[in-house]
Amino acid sequence: MKFIKRLLAAFFLFVVIAARADEGMWLPLFLQQLNEKQMRSMGMKITAADIYNINKGSLKDAIVSFGGFCTGEVISDKGLVLTNHHCGFDAVQNHSTLDHNYIRDGFWARNKAEEIPNPGLFVTFIVRIEEVTKAALAGVSPSMTEQERQSLIDKNIAGLRTTVKKEIYQDLFVRSFFEGNQYFLFVTETYKDVRLVGAPPSSIGNFGKDTDNWMWPRHTGDFSMFRIYAGKDNKPADYSIENVPYTPKRSLSISLDGMKEGDFTMVFGFPGRTTQYLHSTAVEQIVKVNDPAKIAIRDKALSVIDGFMRRDEQVKIQYAAKYAGISNAWKKWQGEVLGLTSTNAVEKKKLYEAAFQKKVDANPQLKEQYGALLADLDAAYQELNKYGLARDYFNETLGRIEAFTIGARLNNLAMAKEKNGDKGYREAVPKTAIALGEIYKEYSPEVDKKLFEVLMEKFTRDQPAEFLAPELVTLAKNSDYNFASIADEFYNNADLLNNPSKVLASLEANPDTVLAANKQSKTNQLYIQLNNYYYNTVTKKLNSIQARINQLQRTYMKAQMEVMKEKKFYPDANSTLRVTYGNVKGYQPRDAVKYDFYTYLDGVMDKYKPGDYEFDVPQKLRDLYKNKDFGPYGKNGKMPVCFIAMNHTTGGNSGSPALDAYGNLVGLNFDRVWEGTMSDINYDPSICRNIMVDIRYVLFIIDKYASAGHLVQEMKLVHPGKK
Ligand code: ARG
Ligand code: ASP
Repeated sequence: MKFIKRLLAAFFLFVVIAARADEGMWLPLFLQQLNEKQMRSMGMKITAADIYNINKGSLKDAIVSFGGFCTGEVISDKGLVLTNHHCGFDAVQNHSTLDHNYIRDGFWARNKAEEIPNPGLFVTFIVRIEEVTKAALAGVSPSMTEQERQSLIDKNIAGLRTTVKKEIYQDLFVRSFFEGNQYFLFVTETYKDVRLVGAPPSSIGNFGKDTDNWMWPRHTGDFSMFRIYAGKDNKPADYSIENVPYTPKRSLSISLDGMKEGDFTMVFGFPGRTTQYLHSTAVEQIVKVNDPAKIAIRDKALSVIDGFMRRDEQVKIQYAAKYAGISNAWKKWQGEVLGLTSTNAVEKKKLYEAAFQKKVDANPQLKEQYGALLADLDAAYQELNKYGLARDYFNETLGRIEAFTIGARLNNLAMAKEKNGDKGYREAVPKTAIALGEIYKEYSPEVDKKLFEVLMEKFTRDQPAEFLAPELVTLAKNSDYNFASIADEFYNNADLLNNPSKVLASLEANPDTVLAANKQSKTNQLYIQLNNYYYNTVTKKLNSIQARINQLQRTYMKAQMEVMKEKKFYPDANSTLRVTYGNVKGYQPRDAVKYDFYTYLDGVMDKYKPGDYEFDVPQKLRDLYKNKDFGPYGKNGKMPVCFIAMNHTTGGNSGSPALDAYGNLVGLNFDRVWEGTMSDINYDPSICRNIMVDIRYVLFIIDKYASAGHLVQEMKLVHPGKK
């Protein structure tokens, strides 16, 4: 019996390790060494050197970090860049007015003169990547504290900056990988003149909104288009009317063939953050403690905001983006808990840890070095637990209450006055006014008051006494925990700070009165008390435990790479350029439910609800559908819209190109399926899928819907199947 159990456990572990052909966000410079063979066996027809090559043009030269938060790709030799609608949204919103509502109606430049500049927006190319671990860690010793270690590394990196060869118009940065075990340097080129070329209306670019977000089957045309402009020498240049369209080293060809089940795909982009190598105790806390707490707080916040949005058209416009932002992570965490639970992620981690421990214990030298590691990690995470929860309560509650944010801004201004004297103060006032103006645009005192009432009550009732500032406890007790009455008192209409237009006017005329009001403001006083108390009881403790965890996780990472020889390791996402690959495939999220891998325009029409905020469909698109007027982009009388595959992606991969076996563009990555959002912590090939919009749908919308076919003329369309 024992033997069979052991055999089963060994088999299980083998499956856990071996079945993950699709897992991983790989560094482009190691593809040949680590991945090429497998990629080719999965169907890839090009070589690793076609993807990443620093000596001649390769696919990587067509990929950009879009604004530092998304990915984009160059698709014409005149610098056209494609990214998601939700990545370009800010730019589109900034240019929208009541008369020119580009969010609602879409926007298409009919010629280059109509392309709109976007101050602050940039795209970054990666010129080359180099490992610099030795230089970064020079002089580092195990006896150093985390702080000493970090400041030496910072110094080493600063030294590298002066010695590494690069052109004057290039930049460089160094990032830590594998929890600080390795360091890589990136030489980059950043273009700052990026102009808006086009975007579909929200009813296409964000079709299905929050209801469909993180969901499959999906029918969203989540794309927008920009153009990079360069100086006359094709080098990066600040915005100027003299600038010319950028000529790229490489632009992507676009395949009109579409994807079949099992086809090879890869996604090339800038994934933001993942935590794949956590201890099981940490994963268990995410599932049982942190995610549920954050979800419950956001439940409350969302239902307050939703209530007002339904009653009040003005609030609906003001809070739409905020609501989408709050709901995006809220929905993701729910999928994460579901997926981690349904795939027994904690159990699998524990099995893996047991196998690790066994190998370590079998070797005296390893045992000496790493024998206590897992137990130490477990203990450290146990100690972190309540502070981590207090952190979530603090961030999720205080971050939702705008009165606190406003107070904080003004406190900073007061500080500038104290520290930098009159001149610094005068300089800081307009900046504060602009920031407050932005906040007030999306602010309703009535909504904020209700959020304060509901969230502060939850904050106070849920948490143990040790995490409650004494002033808050007094406040609650004195009112018999009646937070509605506290809110009434705090959000007094006579209070200057609750009158946005007055605040902005006073800031201009006499900023001192605003600062004085802020000092008197009850919300701000409470905010300062909460902050001080949190800093002393939580932040200090968190920092010291986290430093210990960082050091342990770094050792654990190193140990895993030494001990678990059969496993291939990839570094956690850290907003650097990565390649992930996997085949097109449906999935089965639960018993008797099976999802296909493609959606079509028919599905858009099935979801169509006239006049609905999320599911309305523009008349022109309905006409094109009725007449089956799909141009060269349809297939067998149908118009493909989205598809899914097994690529391991995360936030930041939005806008990443999905490439076929030849490196042609076939889609645009924009999301993941709900059941598989736990891929950030524990990728599971059975239910983790990325969602892409089919490039033919993108072209169809540009050409047939928006009549912007001149842009398609710039692109290179191919039929690799007909070769
Ligand atoms: N879930 C996707 C990603 O994290 C898309 C979000 C944009 N769409 C939306 N309906 N909020 O970020
Ligand atoms: N929607 C995400 C993004 O904006 C992508 C993801 O999380 O899968 O980057």
